[in-house]
Amino acid sequence: MHLFLLLILQATAAIGQIDPAHCRYPLGMEDRRIKDDALKASSQWHETTGPQYARLNREEGDGAWCPAALPSVSQYLEVDLGRLTFLTVIGTQGRYIRNSGNEFAREYRVNYSRDGKLWKSWRNRQGNEVNAYTSVIKDLRPPIVTRYVRLLPVTRLSTTVCMRVELYGCSWDDGLISYSAPEGQRMQPPGYPIANLNDSTYDGVHERGKLFGGLGQLTDGVIGQDDFTRTHEYSVWPGYDYLGWKNDSLEYVEMEFVFDRQRNFTSMKVHSNNMFSRDVKIFSSVSCWFKPHFVWEAEPVEFRTVLDDRNPSARYVTVDLNHRTAKSLRCHFYFADVWMMFSEISFQSGNKHARANKTAAPSASATPDDGKTPILIGCLVTIILLLVIIIFLILWCQYVCKVLEKTLIKQALVFPTACGGGYAEPDITQCTPHQCFHSNAPHYAETDIVRLQGVTGSNMYAVPALTVDSLTRKDISAAEFPRQQLIFREKLGEGQFGEVHLCEAEGLPEFLGEGSPLPDRDGHSVLVAVKQLRADATSQARNDFLKEIKIMSRLNDPNIIRLLCVCVSSDPLCMVTEYMENGDLNMFLSQREIESTLTHANNIPSVSLSDLLHMAVQISSGMKYLASLNFVHRDLATRNCLLDRRLTIKIADFGMSRNLYSSDYYRIQGRAVLPIRWMAWESILLGKFTTASDVWAFGVTLWEIFTLCKEQPYSLLSDEQVIENTGEFFRNQGRQIFLYAPPLCPPSLFELMMRCWSRDIPDRPTFEGLYQALKPHVNQS
Ligand SMILES: *[C@@H]1O[C@H](CO)[C@@H](O)[C@H](O)[C@H]1NC(C)=O
Ligand SMILES: *[C@@H]1O[C@H](CO)[C@@H](O)[C@H](O)[C@H]1NC(C)=O
Ligand SMILES: *[C@@H]1O[C@H](CO)[C@@H](O)[C@H](O)[C@H]1NC(C)=O
Ligand SMILES: *[C@@H]1O[C@H](CO)[C@@H](O)[C@H](O)[C@H]1NC(C)=O
Ligand SMILES: *[C@@H]1O[C@H](CO)[C@@H](O)[C@H](O)[C@H]1NC(C)=O
Repeated sequence: MHLFLLLILQATAAIGQIDPAHCRYPLGMEDRRIKDDALKASSQWHETTGPQYARLNREEGDGAWCPAALPSVSQYLEVDLGRLTFLTVIGTQGRYIRNSGNEFAREYRVNYSRDGKLWKSWRNRQGNEVNAYTSVIKDLRPPIVTRYVRLLPVTRLSTTVCMRVELYGCSWDDGLISYSAPEGQRMQPPGYPIANLNDSTYDGVHERGKLFGGLGQLTDGVIGQDDFTRTHEYSVWPGYDYLGWKNDSLEYVEMEFVFDRQRNFTSMKVHSNNMFSRDVKIFSSVSCWFKPHFVWEAEPVEFRTVLDDRNPSARYVTVDLNHRTAKSLRCHFYFADVWMMFSEISFQSGNKHARANKTAAPSASATPDDGKTPILIGCLVTIILLLVIIIFLILWCQYVCKVLEKTLIKQALVFPTACGGGYAEPDITQCTPHQCFHSNAPHYAETDIVRLQGVTGSNMYAVPALTVDSLTRKDISAAEFPRQQLIFREKLGEGQFGEVHLCEAEGLPEFLGEGSPLPDRDGHSVLVAVKQLRADATSQARNDFLKEIKIMSRLNDPNIIRLLCVCVSSDPLCMVTEYMENGDLNMFLSQREIESTLTHANNIPSVSLSDLLHMAVQISSGMKYLASLNFVHRDLATRNCLLDRRLTIKIADFGMSRNLYSSDYYRIQGRAVLPIRWMAWESILLGKFTTASDVWAFGVTLWEIFTLCKEQPYSLLSDEQVIENTGEFFRNQGRQIFLYAPPLCPPSLFELMMRCWSRDIPDRPTFEGLYQALKPHVNQS
């Protein structure tokens, strides 16, 4: 058993990178793994309200920790987690004690310390110290690496601020407690937005162009995108995810890493950008020195990378550290181009002590030296039997899950459940309201959600009367294009199961024949986007891919992305669509300002109000077409609207967006991903997706357009609060929070948005109505 567990432990340790979306385990306040002596407080109101009673969901003592009423002293509750921890979520409750108490902290701040001596205050991504809100569950964005945490209730009267808490996260096995580096720089290229490559969440000291004594973006678990100007977070600046340097002021970049204790290092992984079209490349070589105790060893480890001028993807570069031991590391990274940019660095080290103790225990007891062999054999047999039972259980569970999944898929085909985006045509078997309200439980309960692996992980295309097995070549109306005539130019995007390439398609005009509208030309050749399924994709992904082709080949509208041809007679499967040169609308708008004399004078990229209205009309026109075919899109948002060279908008769901915009999707227990901020209340609560829920999403899309995509919808609410707010929409007692009216937006248009968010479906406009209402605005301005 020990060995079995040990294998699993080692396997996970080898991955070594933290994924904040999954690192959300309770750390032991409620279940007492955190002991009483690890809890401290600045004061307590009474013995029965000491810090040991600050445990979530427990009602011991007088029901919570309550500080003494000392005016103008800042009170705190301190938790020692026992070791370095990656902390992602804080949950709080007030005092309740069988209805006799109701004191709680409306707001609190967070301080933390890795060594118990130096305390830092938690700041949000914009660098502000903020109070956590009334919500009981607070996602820390950014998360913290720490051992000690203090919660400081913000109040005037401390007697009214009793607290119970739970902390969520996972252990920080890297053991890194600080890194130092030169301050990140600004990139100001003519014709592009300024990219600021500083380390804005760094919690150490900034002094004379150097950072030291802290951790920051290189350890926040967020890896940067291929295009470094794109970011995972809202309301941050281009280049946010990267720390970057230019070669003109530095010969190399020197970084020093300090660890909690001496470690035996196997490797270092450096996530680097490689967008060579903008003069960024991974480093050409690195030399690392080791300090086991007090002096640096003379002999460095040197590592040369293989430079890559073909693939512009950002990537992890793994540097072998040859099992050298050290408590500190100093590395020199050498430039391969003008710029070098890192978004994440992690270390893999053998945990010598822990491993030795664990392996020692079973082997010592297994030495058959004292006549206890039969007992030992008995034990071994039991262990083997247990293993067999466990394996059987796992297999059985997988089988049951499969069956369950199949039933749920069938159910989804009748009316789609809450399973992500994609086009769907559910209306042939439109459910009655009675069927739709078949369950009182909210539909986002974990058991109800099946993750359907689309090309990129989670698309779902519900196509009634079309079972997975019956889908064949004859269902696809797009023509087969000779694969060898597609010439690779550049990679545009990547998902779990596929990639999108920019290709030149030789002879495509002749192939498509006379009269067929041609995609953009670049000189003589025709540029197209080729979405390609990886050879190792699952059969589910394959079927989803074919279904997407089938659906797309039936759509024909100027504002919907057009499928030109396919390559499905051999692997890898490809679909060829128009290439949309200006990318997605979200990126396009977020890099622009509203047109003014200022933008003209300074040559800042801008858009006018009439451009925005024209965009809205085009999207409503495309959606009107989809609605006329009873297609439900399910994931309408600016990130899924693409712009071509002439700024015509086409609605798409390239499926890539779930990777690029992961913060727009809510992950439920790591399984389903939902664009909750765009979803109608009935889609979230009842799993009901219709054209009317697309209208809701259209309202949110309009809102995005008129805020120039500078902000995520409901940006002040956490995901959990957005879901709570959905309940308010359902109850309709006037407590629901609506999106605010964007300053740029004409009042009549905001009224239109508000109608899209009507609780009752008949009160929402149709796409035809929206189109008719929006069109006159364009002609006016
Ligand atoms: C919280 O941290 C700040 C430093 O950022 C420090 O000034 C303050 O004293 C700390 N407060 C407590 C109670 O630890
Ligand atoms: C990083 O750059 C941004 C954008 O210019 C700025 O707002 C922020 O204060 C900077 N952060 C630090 C820590 O220098
Ligand atoms: C580090 O670990 C490796 C194998 O795990 C071992 O061979 C090596 O001797 C260790 N190095 C030191 C200095 O302990
Ligand atoms: C910076 O890199 C570019 C491209 O590799 C090179 O041409 C230039 O000489 C470098 N500048 C310095 C100061 O090293
Ligand atoms: C492993 O054993 C060593 C000495 O035998 C001890 O110092 C260390 O704390 C132990 N580690 C664990 C995780 O028990």
